[in-house]
Amino acid sequence: MLDDARAALRDATRPVAFSGAGLSAESGIPTFREAQTGLWARYDPMALASPEGFTADPELVVAWYNDRRRRVASAQPNPAHRALAGRRDVAHITQNVDDLAERAGATDVVHLHGSLGWDRCSAGCGRRRLIDMADPPSLYACNRCGHWMRPDVVWFGEQLPFTAWSRADELAAEADVFIVIGTSARVHPAAGLITAAGAGGAELIVVNIERTPAHGIQLTGPAGEIVPELLKPTRPRSDD
Ligand code: APR
Repeated sequence: MLDDARAALRDATRPVAFSGAGLSAESGIPTFREAQTGLWARYDPMALASPEGFTADPELVVAWYNDRRRRVASAQPNPAHRALAGRRDVAHITQNVDDLAERAGATDVVHLHGSLGWDRCSAGCGRRRLIDMADPPSLYACNRCGHWMRPDVVWFGEQLPFTAWSRADELAAEADVFIVIGTSARVHPAAGLITAAGAGGAELIVVNIERTPAHGIQLTGPAGEIVPELLKPTRPRSDD
């Protein structure tokens, strides 16, 4: 299977990677839906990752995100992040809000669900602020309009950032190889990119520790081991 996937990648002209929480799991960042370790196992996602939850208790929501920020700040990129960063020819769309791909050297990751490293004004006045994830601020007011500042991430029920979504939609439609890494593919519209890529004729390669319903070449195992093998440069062929 790995040889088939590497052969497909070798001939690809528009390869795209689409990642989820499984990409960062080996860096110690909990995924969302794994029962015993997932972030949602201990919290009600709707209470914390939703506009209603923030309105009800902004201090709790910011405290929860700050805990995740400190965890990201103390984590390190894993070999899968580094392998992706090393392949400038492979576009990378992620659902993840951590900055591990960037810390591995990636420069143009499409963040569909926003980034933990930024706050934005909850009233939408446009104020954004880069924050230190190792020492994130507690709940504070926007210095432009006085409303609370909030993590610049997409909450349940919210629209995805237009620019990121447009770019991801275009990349998926044009991809000739679409590498799905560490996602349960349950959250839409992000998961719909997999269908769009397949419909556009892309060869699907699925990297996951468990078999998934997604079609395509299934590479079952940890991303930190499989992705570097999948993306390592191919030796020039004899007829090259
Ligand atoms: N290597 C590869 N895959 C892994 C690994 C690993 N080391 N560890 C876990 N996985 C897989 C799991 O089998 C699962 O399929 O990663 C996937 C993680 O799924 P989720 O926890 O549902 O995370 P994700 O798919 O990214 O969730 C999508 O949902 O909660 C929202 O906004 C949040 O971006 C998130 C979105």
